[in-house]
Amino acid sequence: MMKRREFLKTAVSTAAALGVPSIVPHRVFGAKAPSNRVHVGFIGMGNQSQVDLPAFLEQPDTQVVAVCDVNTASHGYLSPKQFLGRQPGQDAVNAYYAKQTGAASYRGCGAYNDFREVLGRSDVDAVVIIVPDHWHAVMTGLAAQAGKDIYCEKPLSLTVRQGQEMVRAVRRHQRILQTGSMFRSDPLARHACELVRNGRIGKLKRIVTDVAENNAVSPGPGWTPTPVPEGFDYNLWLGPAPTALYHPYRCFYRFRFILDYSGGQTTNFGCHSNGLVQWALGMDGSGPVEFEDQGSQWPVPGSLFTTATKIGFRARYASGVELLCRTTERGFGARFEGTDGWVDFSWKGLETFPKSLKTSKISSQEKHLPLAVPEDPENKANQSRSYNHVRNFVQCVKAHRDPVEPVEAGHRTASLCHLGNIAMRLHRKIRWDPKQEQIVGDDEAAKLLSRPMRAPWHL
Ligand SMILES: NC(=O)c1ccc[n+]([C@@H]2O[C@H](COP(=O)([O-])OP(=O)(O)OC[C@H]3O[C@@H](n4cnc5c(N)ncnc54)[C@H](O)[C@@H]3O)[C@@H](O)[C@H]2O)c1
Repeated sequence: MMKRREFLKTAVSTAAALGVPSIVPHRVFGAKAPSNRVHVGFIGMGNQSQVDLPAFLEQPDTQVVAVCDVNTASHGYLSPKQFLGRQPGQDAVNAYYAKQTGAASYRGCGAYNDFREVLGRSDVDAVVIIVPDHWHAVMTGLAAQAGKDIYCEKPLSLTVRQGQEMVRAVRRHQRILQTGSMFRSDPLARHACELVRNGRIGKLKRIVTDVAENNAVSPGPGWTPTPVPEGFDYNLWLGPAPTALYHPYRCFYRFRFILDYSGGQTTNFGCHSNGLVQWALGMDGSGPVEFEDQGSQWPVPGSLFTTATKIGFRARYASGVELLCRTTERGFGARFEGTDGWVDFSWKGLETFPKSLKTSKISSQEKHLPLAVPEDPENKANQSRSYNHVRNFVQCVKAHRDPVEPVEAGHRTASLCHLGNIAMRLHRKIRWDPKQEQIVGDDEAAKLLSRPMRAPWHL
């Protein structure tokens, strides 16, 4: 990879030659950025922004300068209490900085409907993409092209082919991308993966991962469309997805149960649980070779929701290790079973057999996985995993190096989940070549690796 200084030199001269505003990050100009803060723009001020926004605001060296959402402000998200959109988002940022600086008021955060205006701001160093999955690839591509570093929520992509394009865009434009599965920045999750990676449970036999049950019920066949609410730019919400009649359950939060915008809990929670598997197995640039349906269930045809109501698929790695991913009550977790013991990481934390593994040290001769916050490896500061995941991103933006969950890792984990979905949708075994990123000998299944995009959006 090009050294940072060389890269900056090239970027400056390229920009100058093209006569366009410089794409050199704002923080590079020391005098103009006295505190060397990374200037951040948020795209998507819905449910997950409630987690990601505080994690960025609380960093000592970031400044949130813009928020963007196609929704001005409304209820109707995951919980009835949530009142979200760009206006409440802007208010929250301005109130935070007013309080922090002791000023009577603060108005430094801009609010936008169209994300391209955020990308056009030369003082924005990085963007945080927290919109439905059908937008991730287009926004990442345009952000990378505009010279922005990117924190993109999981699942990284809507399809395998979109993920490949995201990898290409990030690498071509030499940007930093952190995938937003924050468990990679949890010291216990990392320890679980290091135990497996170092053979502490003997030869790995089987892995079982959990995804959550659907937490919304679909409007059934014959559902009635409703008028688009005022202050909501529905066309820009749909973006590259097909035109569709409006229903509130199509958009806010519940988009994740409709295949046009997401992969359901298979990709939603699957990216967390299966992402740990990929990490533990050293598979960030690869994946399993076979996928098979294991009793998945789907909504009645004609329902608004189209993703699986019950997930069950089996995958096999070339090593012979089996992965079983299914819907369970615990909803998130990965259990690794070996010849000499097991390791289990879930919402409850880490459990092992034998028990002593939990606190055993990984020696200097063994394999160590990347640390999110090297100055506080065991999280003595007691920060949330989201804060630490963002901390890692910000430090990597400043140092221009890859974070703990770079674009390839996010892409391959999402691919695993997409392939599980394809096997479940077709109810048959599919074979996967992780090197060529091709489905072998099944044209119908291979068609599901990509989706057309509605014009003018494209990759
Ligand atoms: N890391 C995690 O644990 C975690 C948890 C929840 C959600 N997520 C991810 O975050 C993303 C968003 O999920 P959510 O639950 O916040 O959904 P949400 O529907 O609550 O919020 C998404 C917001 O994006 C806005 N939006 C849509 N298109 C836009 C566009 N073109 N420009 C600007 N804003 C646009 C919507 O109006 C909405 O306010 C998803 O990819 C989801 O998988 C991650």
